[in-house]
Amino acid sequence: MNRLYNALQLKRLYQLKQLGVKYIPMVEKRIPSQPSLPNDLKLLERIVSQCQLCALSKTRTKTVFGEGDPQAKLMFVGEGPGAQEDISGRPFVGRAGDVLTKMIENAIEIPRSDVYITNIVKCRPPKNRTPKPEEAFTCLPYLMKQIEIIGPKIIVALGATAYHYLTGDKSGITKVRGEIIDMGSYKLVPTYHPSYLLRNPSAKKESYQDLLKIKRLLCEN
Ligand code: URA
Repeated sequence: MNRLYNALQLKRLYQLKQLGVKYIPMVEKRIPSQPSLPNDLKLLERIVSQCQLCALSKTRTKTVFGEGDPQAKLMFVGEGPGAQEDISGRPFVGRAGDVLTKMIENAIEIPRSDVYITNIVKCRPPKNRTPKPEEAFTCLPYLMKQIEIIGPKIIVALGATAYHYLTGDKSGITKVRGEIIDMGSYKLVPTYHPSYLLRNPSAKKESYQDLLKIKRLLCEN
């Protein structure tokens, strides 16, 4: 709840910054005017599909909200949609998506439809660049609300960007991968992004170890 509140605060500050505000004399403890997001996944998806709060909305084809079991115990969070995701409106459907499906079905040994998959930003960054902080922070309340509604026991952060925005820690993924981080209502496990595995096949061994750890954790929770 606190994380959602903080994310909403940051989102508001970035919006003010985009409007040209340079200085705020006092930050209110609560922001009463912040419209609260619905506790319903379908309603939230509709709000996201109409979102125009950052520059990514201008270049997107479709928003990519996320998909999977709305009561999943295991959630995967990537960075942001790529070209094929932007066209289809579904997360991880391109080459990286094939790798992710194999990670879930061959290593963790559960169907992809049993997990929930989403991203830090819901619109494609042009040329697949890393989302800018103002884009990520503006979008983050949607992810926080998805997490609150779905209530996963384990979240897998795919790559450094997902890890960074879920924890606030800027450590590299090579350093933190495979760690189990207690986030209160869920455990966070960072691991390599599927696109990184496509570029660096030698990292697959470590990725497999992380996935076996996630599989064990899933059995315990
Ligand atoms: N990469 C991501 O991080 N997310 C997707 O949905 C696809 C590729």
